[in-house]
Formats: sequence, C-alpha cells, structure tokens
Amino acid sequence: MPTSTLIRNSFAAAFRVVLVAVVALALSLVAVPPAQAAGGGPSITKKYFGTLSGGKKIDIYTLRNSNGMRVKILTYGGILQSIEVPDSRGRLADVALGFDKLSDYVKQSPYFGCITGRYANRIAKGRFTLDGKTYQLATNDGPNHLHGGNKGFDKRVWQAEPFRRHNSVGLALTYTSPNGEEHYPGTLRAKVVYTLTDDNQIRMDYRATTSRPTVVNLTNHTYFNLRGEGNGRILGHEMRINASHYTPVDKTLIPTGKIARLGGTPLDFREPTAIGDRINSKNQQIVRGGGYDHNYVLDSRGHGLDLAAKVVEPESGRVLEVITDQPGLQFYSGNFLDGTLRGTSGHLYPKRSGFALESQHFPDSPNHKNFPSTVLRPGDVYRTTTIYAFSTM
Ligand code: BGC
Repeated sequence: MPTSTLIRNSFAAAFRVVLVAVVALALSLVAVPPAQAAGGGPSITKKYFGTLSGGKKIDIYTLRNSNGMRVKILTYGGILQSIEVPDSRGRLADVALGFDKLSDYVKQSPYFGCITGRYANRIAKGRFTLDGKTYQLATNDGPNHLHGGNKGFDKRVWQAEPFRRHNSVGLALTYTSPNGEEHYPGTLRAKVVYTLTDDNQIRMDYRATTSRPTVVNLTNHTYFNLRGEGNGRILGHEMRINASHYTPVDKTLIPTGKIARLGGTPLDFREPTAIGDRINSKNQQIVRGGGYDHNYVLDSRGHGLDLAAKVVEPESGRVLEVITDQPGLQFYSGNFLDGTLRGTSGHLYPKRSGFALESQHFPDSPNHKNFPSTVLRPGDVYRTTTIYAFSTM
C-alpha cells in the first residue's frame, strides 16, 4: 500500500475513534432521567450485607419505586443505609449518610439511619420513676442515657418481612425486646413498617406493645444531606420548622422543663432560613448544643399527621418534607461529626455535613410531668407515623 494511502487510512481510523467517543459523550450528556430509563413497577430485593461477630447474618433490602427512587434498609438496627432521590434535573444521589460495611455500623456509627429506641434522645442520669418504682438505665452520654443505652434498637437485629402493593413497596421489621433489656421494664414488642411509595415518600409506621408499664419513644435517626452524602456541608440548606416553642436544655442537653418561645431567637425557623445563617450565634442554647440540637415543640402538638419541617437545598433543587403525628422534632445539625468517618461515597464526613430531623416525644419526658406522656401500659398500643417526602423545586 502506498504510504499516502496508509496515512489516509490510519487518519480515517483515528477520526472514527474520536467520532465514536464524541457521540458516546453526547449521548451520556443527554439527560435521560435514570428514573424513567429504569422503568417498571415497584420492586424489592434482598442481599447479604455482612455477618456480626456472634455469627448472625445481616441482609440489605433494596426497595425501588416506579420512579426509580431507591431505598436500602439493613436488618441491623433497621438502618436506612441509602436513600437515592432525583434532583431537579432527574439525577439521583444518595441523600442519607451511611457506611458500606457492617463493621463500620457496629464500631463507630453516630446512629446513622437507624431506628432509635427504646427511648430516643436523653433521659437525665438514666433514671426515671414509674408507678413508684425507680429504674436505673445505662448512662452512655456523659451523665445521661442516650438513644436506648449501650445496646439500643439501633444495634439489634430485626426480623424482616418484605411486601409489595400496587403503588408501593415496603419492609416490615419486628423486634421483641425482653423484659429488663437495657434495664427497661416490660417485654416490648416493636414493629416498624417502612413503605416506599410511588410519590417518593418513605413512610414509617411504628407500633409497640408491652407486658408491663414502661416508657417508649421511637424514631428514625437518618442524617440527610440533600446535596448527596459526602458532598460538603448542610449549611446552605434552607430549613423551615412549624414550631413556635421548644424545650431549652441545660449544659448536658437535658431539657430544663420549660417550654419556651422561639420568637426572637436564632433557633426560630418558622420562616425558611439557611441552617448556616445563625449557627455560630452566641445564643446560650446554640452554644450548649454546639449548633442546633434541640427539641422543637410542633405547633400541631401531635394531633394527627401534619407538616413538621420542610428543607430545600437550592443547588440540587431537592426538597425534603417531614410529616409526623408526634409532638416534637429534634433538629440536630450534625455538630458532633468531626471529619473522621468515611461514608458510603468514600468521602469523609466533616462537621455539619448531615442533619437529622427526628420526630419524637420530648427528651427526658419521664422526668417532666408537664411534657406529653411516654408511658405505655399493657393492653395499650403505641402507634405513630412519620413520613419523609421527597420532591424537587
Ligand atoms: C442528639 C445529639 C446526639 C446525636 C447522636 C441526636 O439525636 O440530639 O445530641 O449527639 O443524636 O448522633
């Protein structure tokens, strides 16, 4: 072959390679929303996730709705391990902080995504009196009891029952906590049903019964970053909380017992405000929390399902609404994250790179007669519902 033809041929071949590459790149840029591309109805699948040191196997369930939104749940702690939701251009990102290894959850999780119980948040000095009898629980947070003690519901293995309906898919989790576990009275039969609906909501229905009088306060402890986990801090998220009162705390984050007005304080989120705007204020309550770590007394006061909070992330356009029938909402701005934990994305989680909105009864209620009661008696059923509703601007 003459040299000129050879050069022409190799030039043509190179041109073809470049052309194919350009077309491939262009195709990948055409926004085919993954949601639509995937198609199909809601589905749920189960995979092995890891084994606990005692030999128990932990599964991970993947729930997928008709829009392609995907939620992963562990049988360990009932943990929402990942929540993939679209941004305003249809691109999915995982908006829940988490780990991809079971050992990380066991060793060092600051309650990422878990079911928190038997008593979410704090009980002063781990002590309460019920029907004349005083119970001493573990003190696992300075002088206080936090999130159910040394081995709370976040560290238990839950029985899982998947289900599928026309417009939703879900996982029913059950756990029986024996009488005296973590020094709480009564055998508590707990059930948490997670449902992922086709309108991008995660619904959590909690139920519990007891064999003896006890106290109970369950919640979910997901840390959100609507930019995507591992993608920076949450300070630019705009927060609105439908509460005009809160329960101020002492230095150890135990409520003083007061139900105080939010008006005029940097904790007031009745108007949408960026989380970072006032987070370094010298306000004594903010200083005590190291940022936001407070129980908001919802204006709905626990009378039926109502919008408690709405969070908008302006860059991605993702929106989260928290709807609950609970009287309180703990807004925690991830102040104790310190850049040492490496999350699912492989990125470190710096301080305030996730926030939690925990629907709940007020912290330390068993020691405050003026707070709504958290006592559960045999024959009664503890029932509560909270919804994380996702949308875009
Ligand atoms: C509490 C924080 C605590 C965090 C643990 C939140 O519910 O309010 O004070 O540090 O949980 O991850």
